Amino acid sequence: MICVLIFAAFVSFALAFPYQQPESDSTRISGGSNATIKEIPYIAQINVDGSKTSDCDASIISSLWLVSAAHCLIRMRAANVSIRAGTDQFMRGGVVIRASNLYVHPSYTNITQDYDIGLIKLASPITFGPNISAISLAERKPAVGTSALVSGWGDLDSTSETIPTQLQKVTLPVVSDLQCPPVYTPRMICAGYRNRSQSPCYGDSGGPLAVRNTLIGVVSHGGACAGISVYANVANLRKWILSIASI
Ligand SMILES: *[C@@H]1O[C@H](CO)[C@@H](O)[C@H](O)[C@H]1NC(C)=O
Ligand SMILES: *[C@@H]1O[C@H](CO)[C@@H](O)[C@H](O)[C@H]1NC(C)=O
Ligand SMILES: *[C@@H]1O[C@H](CO)[C@@H](O)[C@H](O)[C@H]1NC(C)=O
Ligand SMILES: *[C@@H]1O[C@H](CO)[C@@H](O)[C@H](O)[C@H]1NC(C)=O
Ligand SMILES: *[C@@H]1O[C@H](CO)[C@@H](O)[C@H](O)[C@H]1NC(C)=O
Repeated sequence: MICVLIFAAFVSFALAFPYQQPESDSTRISGGSNATIKEIPYIAQINVDGSKTSDCDASIISSLWLVSAAHCLIRMRAANVSIRAGTDQFMRGGVVIRASNLYVHPSYTNITQDYDIGLIKLASPITFGPNISAISLAERKPAVGTSALVSGWGDLDSTSETIPTQLQKVTLPVVSDLQCPPVYTPRMICAGYRNRSQSPCYGDSGGPLAVRNTLIGVVSHGGACAGISVYANVANLRKWILSIASI
């Protein structure tokens, strides 16, 4: 099983390197700075029973629903999953709420990471407050050059595998589709600086790329925590989200 996963990880590396730590392959923010939960009250960590770490994040879109990446949820069972919201500390504080169902986009493919989106339904509603709130879904892909905020508890760089205790954030410009890595589809949106080490990293998968209080992307994949990163394009996938989640 381990061999299969490692092999598959190498296959996808050639085309698309998912920003998840699968038993150790996820994404954390590289080149960012500390953030407080008040600044990013819509982010949550995904916890799996029996694991001491959290390899993926999600965005709260209503009191019962969160959006994350398909590549995060595809290996999970709802019965083993909970989310932690309302905290900027890794695996500490806030509230923990169990999932009741997980939904992975039926067209998701782990070769290209196309349709890399999924939903978590909670077993009981989250209570909103200063540190917990919902983010709205983008209706349109934002213009090239728009500043967007990506956040998470992923590794601080691609080599040290250092997990921050404090939530990290970095602001990146949305780039044109032509600047996306070669395997591009309309279900993707790209952001970042070609020549900078400011990017999501392993452990940031499934987390938010936001413009103010609008979710425009879900952390999907990219290079080794540098350069242009790829996100599920929320404006494009919004219809699928709304067909499942009653928000
Ligand atoms: C990718 O999907 C194939 C078939 O659905 C599966 O056999 C393989 O294990 C998956 N790879 C990863 C890394 O999940
Ligand atoms: C970021 O947060 C960590 C943990 O809370 C702290 O040790 C570090 O000093 C903070 N960095 C800055 C620049 O404030
Ligand atoms: C909100 O989070 C901050 C830490 O960033 C914490 O000090 C505060 O107690 C939290 N407030 C509530 C209502 O949970
Ligand atoms: C995950 O859930 C299944 C039931 O769906 C249960 O049998 C298993 O023990 C759980 N795993 C952990 C690590 O809790
Ligand atoms: C990095 O790229 C930007 C454009 O994306 C360019 O303006 C800048 O000069 C480049 N910096 C270096 C050091 O190459």
